[in-house]
Order: sequence, then structure tokens, then C-alpha cells
Amino acid sequence: MSTISLPESINMHDMTEQYLFNAFAGESQAHMRYVNYADVAVKEGYPNVGLLFRAIAFAERVHASNHLERMPQKEDMFSGENPYGLGDTAENLQKGIDGETFEIEEMYPTYRKVADFQDESEAVQTFDWALRAEKIHAKMYADAKEKVEDGEDIDLEKVSICSVCGYTKKGDAPDRCPVCGAEKEEFREFE
Ligand code: FE2
Ligand code: FE2
Ligand code: FE2
Repeated sequence: MSTISLPESINMHDMTEQYLFNAFAGESQAHMRYVNYADVAVKEGYPNVGLLFRAIAFAERVHASNHLERMPQKEDMFSGENPYGLGDTAENLQKGIDGETFEIEEMYPTYRKVADFQDESEAVQTFDWALRAEKIHAKMYADAKEKVEDGEDIDLEKVSICSVCGYTKKGDAPDRCPVCGAEKEEFREFE
């Protein structure tokens, strides 16, 4: 995972700082939820839905790590809102859709506006990268849910995730990440 060199961020605005904490908490929980949803999918006979959950879990980890890297170093914790509990795979996919949709429609657009208003460009970047990946995740989960509701696994052999920004793509990694410009070597493949 790549790291960026940061300016001293001890003077970050309170609102942006709080939102970075919130987003870190939310992405961390999304990572763990998806890892567990993958286990349920495999048990229920949907190995490729399991692969999808594991790959997207890694993208959420990238988002969490990016947010974490940009947080000022001091004590403070806020809880993110997230749906808890394990359902069957169709229910878990719906929980995934709900969480991603909240991030797409409310959380990241709002966080991004505040960070932009406060001229926190590093925070704008990490919120923006996450927002762009969440849109792809929501669509992938929605497509998978349709299949699973018919009792079918999805058609999926490989998912490539950009380890810099979390960009998510079915199949092979592109030569360059269309979101952050990272080289092919920065992608992690799940198969
Ligand atoms: Fe995310
Ligand atoms: Fe996501
Ligand atoms: Fe990227």
C-alpha cells in the first residue's frame, strides 16, 4: 500500500477532522462486515459472491487506510452509522447496497463539501476516491443480489482493486487506474 507524504496536519479544521474519523470508522466496519459476508456466501454455495465480497472488503480497507493516514495524531473517536448483523447472502448484499448508497448519496458528498470549504485538499482527495469506488460497489452488489435471489451464483473470475485509491474493476487490472492514475503494479487481484 502506498503512503503519501503529508504536511503537518495539527491545524486541521474540526469538522473535517471529525469527518475523517467518522469515515475511518465506517470504512473499517464495512471491511469487516464484507469479510464475514464472504464466509456466509461460500457456505451458502455462492463462491463467486464470496470473491466479490472479499475483493470489495479490500477496497474498503484501502479507503480506511487513506483516511487514517490523513488524520491528525490525537485522541478522538466518533462512531459511524452502519447496519449490524449477519443475514443470508441476499440480505447481506442488500445491507451492502444500503451502506454503499448512504456513502454515495449523503456521507461522502457532504464530507467532501465541508473539506473543500475548509481547503483541506488531502481530505477532499480521500473522500473523492472513496465516493467513486462506492458507486461501483453499489452496482456490483445490486447485480449480485438479483442473481442470488434466483439461487444463482454470479459470473466472476477476477476482481482487481487499486491499492492506492480503492478503484474496483471486474477482470484484469488496467494499465493505469482511471481514478488516481496508479500503475498496473499497484493493483491487487482477487481470484
Ligand atoms: Fe469504501
Ligand atoms: Fe464500498
Ligand atoms: Fe487508483
